[in-house]
Amino acid sequence: MSQALSLSTPVAVVGAGAMGAGIAQVAAVAGHPVRLLDNRPGAAAQAVAGIRAQLAKLADKGKLTPEAAQAASVRLCAVATSAELAGCGLVVEAIVENLEVKRGLFRELEAICGADCILATNTSSISVTSIAAGLQRPERLVGLHFFNPAPLMALVEIVSGLATDRQLAEVLFDTAAAWGKTPVYAKSTPGFIVNRVARPYYAEGLRLLQEGAADCATLDAVMREAGAFRMGPFELMDMIGHDVNFAVTKSVWNAFYNDPRFQPSLVQQELVEAGFIGRKSGRGFYDYRAGAERPQP
Ligand code: NAI
Repeated sequence: MSQALSLSTPVAVVGAGAMGAGIAQVAAVAGHPVRLLDNRPGAAAQAVAGIRAQLAKLADKGKLTPEAAQAASVRLCAVATSAELAGCGLVVEAIVENLEVKRGLFRELEAICGADCILATNTSSISVTSIAAGLQRPERLVGLHFFNPAPLMALVEIVSGLATDRQLAEVLFDTAAAWGKTPVYAKSTPGFIVNRVARPYYAEGLRLLQEGAADCATLDAVMREAGAFRMGPFELMDMIGHDVNFAVTKSVWNAFYNDPRFQPSLVQQELVEAGFIGRKSGRGFYDYRAGAERPQP
């Protein structure tokens, strides 16, 4: 029998960026009341407006009924303080990829949310065991790792740290399935499954670029056309965001005691330092500002 959370369970999403907004959309469409919080003033309200526009588009295209889109829109709300997350049965964290910041947030959430609230992290690469360490109830923290864009990508990794209560991982597995996703269990190893397997895809692409083998547009085209990948490594990193992708690479590299296989790239570090962090900033390996996706000179 499914142990999925009942649809009346309020779900909170903290972090209203690319991932948080996508996860909030998925939960609202599934039927949960959803509260969205961000520490950047106005960001949660802006994300809710963006999701509502997205739902309206889906209805126009016939991918959702107008009634379902309207009902999901009504279930979403932006909140301004963490105190307003009291009473939620599940909180999904999708904030910056930084261990100390995530730990601080969960310590705060533990004090606000009830003892039976499930705490979930959408971290791409940080140890779930480490995030949970120091919490009063470390067994209640589970990794719930969606992929970008969350409304479209089916896979969700359900990640258990050493302290994670197995039954809560099962509840999230069944909940993700009820939300129309394809969940898979993973242990909290560096990068979990997908981000570990994908590291060489980015790393070798970056090495080829640094060696001058070809430009990024050519390398992307080769992987799409000959490799049958949906996206080449450079356009994929631009979509993920170099801030996020670089943080994930550093986290996996650190976790393996600086194993050269996972060494971060200076080319990507330069992009992060310049603020050219990909689509969300208008510039990364490609320039999106004029609406045209073209390689930079
Ligand atoms: P993003 O940069 O688009 O959004 C992060 C949001 O969190 C921002 O709106 C920021 O204002 C907010 N934030 C930061 N610190 C906060 C705090 N202490 N309290 C409340 N809000 C805070 O980042 P994105 O891409 O949505 O990533 C978020 C998380 O999801 C990261 O842990 C990342 O590793 C993970 N992730 C990212 C994927 C991607 O492809 N971008 C895929 C899967 C997971």
